[in-house]
Amino acid sequence: MTVIEALKNRRAIRNYTTQPVEKEKIEQILQAATYAPNDRMREPWHFYVLQDDAMKRYEKMASSYLQERFPTKPHLVESSLKVVQTTPVAIVVTADMVENDEDATADNIFAVCSAIMSMWLAAEELGLGFVWRTRGVGLVHDARMHTFIGADQNQKVVGTIFIGYPEEQELKDKKRTSFEEKTTWL
Ligand SMILES: Cc1cc2nc3c(=O)[nH]c(=O)nc-3n(C[C@H](O)[C@H](O)[C@H](O)COP(=O)(O)O)c2cc1C
Repeated sequence: MTVIEALKNRRAIRNYTTQPVEKEKIEQILQAATYAPNDRMREPWHFYVLQDDAMKRYEKMASSYLQERFPTKPHLVESSLKVVQTTPVAIVVTADMVENDEDATADNIFAVCSAIMSMWLAAEELGLGFVWRTRGVGLVHDARMHTFIGADQNQKVVGTIFIGYPEEQELKDKKRTSFEEKTTWL
């Protein structure tokens, strides 16, 4: 598979089998992340790996968040929680924030986004399904996730990654606006 083929084939995979994910594969994904470009070699990432008991605790935390957020939508709470219950591994990725330096902080977040993309492609090569979540149970924009993983004050949660062996499913065609429409040649 060439890099361009891998980029074209990459998909957000949200449904997984119950097959556990081997530790070596998780480590290969984490290793791939560390090769990402980053300004001044600050290597501004940290990875919090959740499995087994930690996933159960995550589910509890997500449950209280969802019930508080959607008190009149029990079906939504249930279906969102199912997503956590059926995911073998989650990795919460943080970026280091630089005190009194918004630009460096932004660059660190960009570097972490690159690292997550590297993880996504590595997962694809290893036959694993992967999705980067921010909304809902991703809890990237809610302080509870930061507290849950025990992150430092200077760490910002950028992504909650769900990983597992993909369940057979029909994926819709990959729709993208052509690059011509998104490009200005100056
Ligand atoms: C920053 C970011 C946040 C995302 N957040 C979510 C999310 O909260 N829930 C979700 O199901 N997918 C999420 N996704 C995955 C996108 O929905 C997915 O990449 C998009 O639908 C395009 O599909 P593809 O990845 O299969 O090409 C996110 C992706 C990115 C890059």
